[in-house]
Amino acid sequence: MKVGIDKIGFYSPKFYIDTSDLAIARNEDPNKYLIGIGQKKQAVIPNTQDVVTMAANASYKIISHDDIDKIDLIIFGTETGVDNSKSAAIYLQNLLSLKSSARAFEIKQACYGATAGLQMAKEYIINHPDKKALVIGADVARYGINTPGEVTQGGGAIAMIVSSNPSIASFDGDSTFHSDDIMDFWRPLYSTEALVDGHYSNNVYVDFFKKTWKEYNDKNQLSIDDYSALVFHLPYVKMGIKGLRAVLSEATEDKQISLKNEFNFSKTYNENIGNLYTGSLYLSLLSLINESSNLKYGDRIGLFSYGSGAQGEFFSMKLEKSFKNAKSINDLNNLIANREKLSVEEYENIFNQWLPIKNIDIDLNWQRDDSTFFLKSIKNSQRIYSSRLEEK
Ligand code: HMG
Repeated sequence: MKVGIDKIGFYSPKFYIDTSDLAIARNEDPNKYLIGIGQKKQAVIPNTQDVVTMAANASYKIISHDDIDKIDLIIFGTETGVDNSKSAAIYLQNLLSLKSSARAFEIKQACYGATAGLQMAKEYIINHPDKKALVIGADVARYGINTPGEVTQGGGAIAMIVSSNPSIASFDGDSTFHSDDIMDFWRPLYSTEALVDGHYSNNVYVDFFKKTWKEYNDKNQLSIDDYSALVFHLPYVKMGIKGLRAVLSEATEDKQISLKNEFNFSKTYNENIGNLYTGSLYLSLLSLINESSNLKYGDRIGLFSYGSGAQGEFFSMKLEKSFKNAKSINDLNNLIANREKLSVEEYENIFNQWLPIKNIDIDLNWQRDDSTFFLKSIKNSQRIYSSRLEEK
């Protein structure tokens, strides 16, 4: 029996900045951001969106009545959750009217959370093939204004439905993973911005990739020729290029050209959104599937997941017959094309309005946010969510 990803939904808010504008404001050469880092645009997250609303906006578009009947596992991967106790999965379950007879919980390991969720969902569906699981990767990537990490910010949510006989891609082979106690990136409880040892984090990422890649190929008796494309966790596009370059010499010249071409398709969405943290790898997978016209049923895609701190995992999936979905392509292209460009000053204002880690009662300016789900207010330390479906 095949088990894998049946549907993928994506949401990111409607505001963005051009990284060229950001470079000029920060006295940097725009080519450093465009070529050196590889980012063109960056999503800007208003305080009316958080991981719960972004996950609801990503899931809402893909969940059918049949999915609602069958989903009894909701796993929410995030490192920017909204409560130290209650999981974002419970809020999401309510907003989407999912069944109460479900397991709903949140997991955290930096950008690795969604992969942990996906692997747990895989095991669950193998044992319960008539059920479905909803796996979320949602985050807001914040480093702070005028920091080296600023150009690698972003945010949004990925929602994946895992099922038997999936439409998009099925698991193939046995994963390899590696973890170690490493201080490359972390966010203390008092802070809404991450702390990072940026250059060190790049090196650890590549080391973990090389290790899990070699182990995977040895364990599953595969070589680089067996992959039609490799997709990476993309904190910024150049990071994936560094990963790809680390193994390209194992391939023939023709294979190198084709893997580089496919990588270019896999970066299209990410270079326009920025880092999603735990959803980034799956945004890249979606970008590859939607943008490439070379892929076909049965092709093997290698996926490298990395979460600072640090956890790495390499696994592969095979494309299923209906992996391309015209509606998904249309929705994604519209979402990216129809956003509102902000000046650097407007972005800084929105950035500074992000809700602090302290007790405040606040009514938010949700009328400017035209998303289906949004955060309306905070009263008595409780988040009040709403949706346009109710406000109409
Ligand atoms: P930096 O120090 O400002 O940049 O920050 P740099 O000086 O290293 O330059 C970057 C690249 O631009 C270099 O290329 C330069 O040569 C090039 P590279 O050597 O890397 O190939 N460059 C130019 N290119 C063209 N024209 C020019 C030009 N000038 C320079 N004029 C850094 C870069 C990534 C360190 C910083 O942005 C940062 O700290 N980012 C956040 C950390 C990060 O994303 N790390 C990635 C690995 S860790 C990870 O993936 C996990 C994470 O997602 C979190 C989680 O797991 O939760 C972050």
